[in-house]
Amino acid sequence: MLDNIIEKVLVPEEEIAEIVARLADEINADYSSEDKNLVIVSVLKGAMPFTTDLMKQLNVPLELECVRVSSYGNSTESSGKICMKLDFDRPDFDKCDFLVVEDIVDSGNTLTFLVAHLTQKGARSVKTVTLLDKPSRRKVEFDPDYCGKIIPDEFVFGYGLDLFEKYRDLPYVAVVRPEYVKEHG
Ligand code: PRP
Repeated sequence: MLDNIIEKVLVPEEEIAEIVARLADEINADYSSEDKNLVIVSVLKGAMPFTTDLMKQLNVPLELECVRVSSYGNSTESSGKICMKLDFDRPDFDKCDFLVVEDIVDSGNTLTFLVAHLTQKGARSVKTVTLLDKPSRRKVEFDPDYCGKIIPDEFVFGYGLDLFEKYRDLPYVAVVRPEYVKEHG
């Protein structure tokens, strides 16, 4: 059934595991000092698989928070407007070193908004990590602190990324066949 949908597998399961291990090494090194208080902020829904896999390889004490924002006007184009659908609150923003975890950076609007949001709440520090980055799609200047893989401007899905809300459960990232998007979009 997936043969009708998938153009090609862009990031196979083994490569995702390698990327996650490399990013975890970088993050472990940067947050190892005792004065750090790492708080992971997972951006639902897309970042869920990446967040859980990454967290399993982090060896520093950490806490987990989740947010949900809506960034897309429709399935393929960002509206530029960010609406916070799930937020969290805590009394100790000034003692927290937040790491926002994303599956993909596209226009840059979501992470620009979230970094500003956490900073405005008084965060001690805010950094970002993304599994995938599409720099060619930027609408605002934004550079993630940790980046798994730069990819071309193709409609990708799987490993958290949805295709019309489905297939987030795939263990790899694939490119959709353009005909499928035309028929179902
Ligand atoms: C996607 C993705 C990022 C965001 C990136 O989420 O998971 O959060 O868009 O796009 P941007 O850089 O243009 O802001 P989406 O809004 O589709 O929600 P989802 O994670 O629930 O699928």
